[in-house]
Amino acid sequence: GTHLLVSQQCDLTGWWENELGSKMHVDAVDSQGNFTGEYYTAVSSAQKPIEPSPLLGSQHLDEDGQCTFGFTVNWKFSDSTAVFTGQCFAGDSGEEVLQSTWLLREKVDSLHSDWKATRTGHNVFTR
Ligand code: BTN
Repeated sequence: GTHLLVSQQCDLTGWWENELGSKMHVDAVDSQGNFTGEYYTAVSSAQKPIEPSPLLGSQHLDEDGQCTFGFTVNWKFSDSTAVFTGQCFAGDSGEEVLQSTWLLREKVDSLHSDWKATRTGHNVFTR
């Protein structure tokens, strides 16, 4: 029978929202797959009020719509740093879905507190 392969890019450019209500905007992805953007987290463990924070990342430029990517968020209102890594997929309705895993490094006072400094979790982003 006939089968159709729809070649789709997995260009991360644009707005995304995850299941926490956090939003991010990825600026143009360059020819090397590098990108910058802004992360608007909906939640925080910091004392100060939430502020939009810059992100810096890179993605593979595979044309099968299933590229992997990673980015770092340098929180402007917190001493913490987050890294996200993930992969783009097409959902059952053809919508773009980013599956990601993150590490959030909190600043601790001493080497003895290092054991409790890192949180991990999973976020799903859609357009
Ligand atoms: C902090 O709490 O120090 C800064 C904000 C961290 C927000 C985290 S990053 C992983 C998770 N996914 C989100 O969208 N927000 C939280």
